[in-house]
Amino acid sequence: MAIQTTTLEETARALVAPGKGILAADESSGTIKKRFDSIGVESTEESRRAYRDLLFTTEGAEDFVSGVILYDETIRQSSEDGTPFPKLLESKGVIPGIKVDMGAKDLANAPGEKVTEGLDGLRERLAEYHDLGARFAKWRAVIDIGPDIPSYTCIRVNTHALARYAALCQAAQIVPIVEPEVLMDGDHDIDRCYKVTELVLKTQFEELYFQRVALEGMVLKPNMVISGKKIKKPAGVEEVAEKTVRLLKNCVPGAVPGIAFLSGGQSDEEATAHLDAMNKIGHLPWRLTFSYGRALQHAPQTAWKGRAENVGAAQRAFSHRAKMNGLAAIGQWKADLEKKAA
Ligand code: 13P
Repeated sequence: MAIQTTTLEETARALVAPGKGILAADESSGTIKKRFDSIGVESTEESRRAYRDLLFTTEGAEDFVSGVILYDETIRQSSEDGTPFPKLLESKGVIPGIKVDMGAKDLANAPGEKVTEGLDGLRERLAEYHDLGARFAKWRAVIDIGPDIPSYTCIRVNTHALARYAALCQAAQIVPIVEPEVLMDGDHDIDRCYKVTELVLKTQFEELYFQRVALEGMVLKPNMVISGKKIKKPAGVEEVAEKTVRLLKNCVPGAVPGIAFLSGGQSDEEATAHLDAMNKIGHLPWRLTFSYGRALQHAPQTAWKGRAENVGAAQRAFSHRAKMNGLAAIGQWKADLEKKAA
């Protein structure tokens, strides 16, 4: 069957519609357990369902959230009233998405580096997820920066797998989110991050080209160009925005409808300020928005703490972050808006 690029393109454009971005709520059971441990909540199928329900039923979040990335367990779960999560999201005009990679595993012959697995059987899994309502997908590769890494081996195998995943998604009428994440965990400076991300994105778009992926029907999810977390003097907001935009203009074809950043361990407000500063630069060939996990969920998780009586406060916290990032996606955020809310 020929790929219907019009549908893929419509979905991709809707995901990056002005003033909207993506909520990444696709933490694997291991990752959500870590988040729940930090707020003293036991991770059970029911506590994970209740927490996701809280996020997805937040009134008005749909004004700022175009799509939600779900995990395999979550796409099969339902809201309190029995409505399956994908149906609930659709009823609010929010596009259901699904994480399809099987995680980053040790890469042979490359000490300290990872390769993301999950291509075997992916065609069949995508068909099932489409039946369950998913219209876009996510696959994350991780590239770490250290004294002798990343190796070209790591960059090549990860971008190759991402392109194979993207091609399979489009054949299944699912928009691929292509996420080659350069981690911000080290003590490197912003210019090292620039150089590594440049090589990763150049290689990524070469792989997408060789594997015939329609750029109009995908969304790129990159890291920002940013200092390592352990550096003493991190680059400021303007420098992050200027270098990220310069890099993306050099690496990402204008045929790509939008770029939705990951937050990657930035604080909530930093992730918003950086996105806003980039959109304030303006004159961009693609839309720049968010696809945040931690930077959207840290506030609601802290407010919730697993208690039913805190659901309202958690929803207000989530709604606030969604709105702040929605404004940042059109360059209209101001730091004062955070203070007023506090
Ligand atoms: P963070 O915003 O927490 O980096 O998560 C986004 C994501 O989906 C990572 O794959």
